[in-house]
Amino acid sequence: MHSPDPHDADDDLPLLYQVVYCSRAAAGIDDATVDRILEAAHRNNPQHGITGLLVFGGNMFFQWIEGPRAHVRRLMDTIKADPRHDSVVELSDTEEVRERVFPDWSMELVTPDDIREVLLDAQRDIEDPRSAQALGVLLAQLQAGPLAAHPRG
Ligand SMILES: Cc1cc2nc3c(=O)[nH]c(=O)nc-3n(C[C@H](O)[C@H](O)[C@H](O)COP(=O)(O)O)c2cc1C
Repeated sequence: MHSPDPHDADDDLPLLYQVVYCSRAAAGIDDATVDRILEAAHRNNPQHGITGLLVFGGNMFFQWIEGPRAHVRRLMDTIKADPRHDSVVELSDTEEVRERVFPDWSMELVTPDDIREVLLDAQRDIEDPRSAQALGVLLAQLQAGPLAAHPRG
């Protein structure tokens, strides 16, 4: 006889921490600089179980980072100290048992033109209400912020 386990549904899901922030790019940041940031992300993030996306445009960065809390917080400390941007503002953070929103992206660069669609797609797919809410916060920020006014390019 198998007795139902209330935690069954969570068995395959990790305790996942997620943070979204925006920042102001330093003067002179160009696509080559952003490529170097992505190289570091692709080199480092997989071994720390970190996935997410990075948006660059209108002299701003937006980044979604998800993974084990200790690894994400350590990365945030590194990122905050990085002179290629300043004025880092964390918009939301959560920790809960859930699926990843961006499981296949060790850190994907998304253009301001595409970010709305990417986030709306993710919102459609995701079942967890707090992840959906975090995506909503990011969408609202993107709509209100300088990315809307000054797309990259
Ligand atoms: C906006 C922004 C986003 C970044 N995102 C990441 C990231 O997701 N992963 C990462 O390892 N480094 C990221 N970095 C770079 C780190 O600040 C740091 O330079 C890098 O982790 C050092 O890697 P290394 O020790 O392998 O050279 C980011 C930097 C900036 C300015």
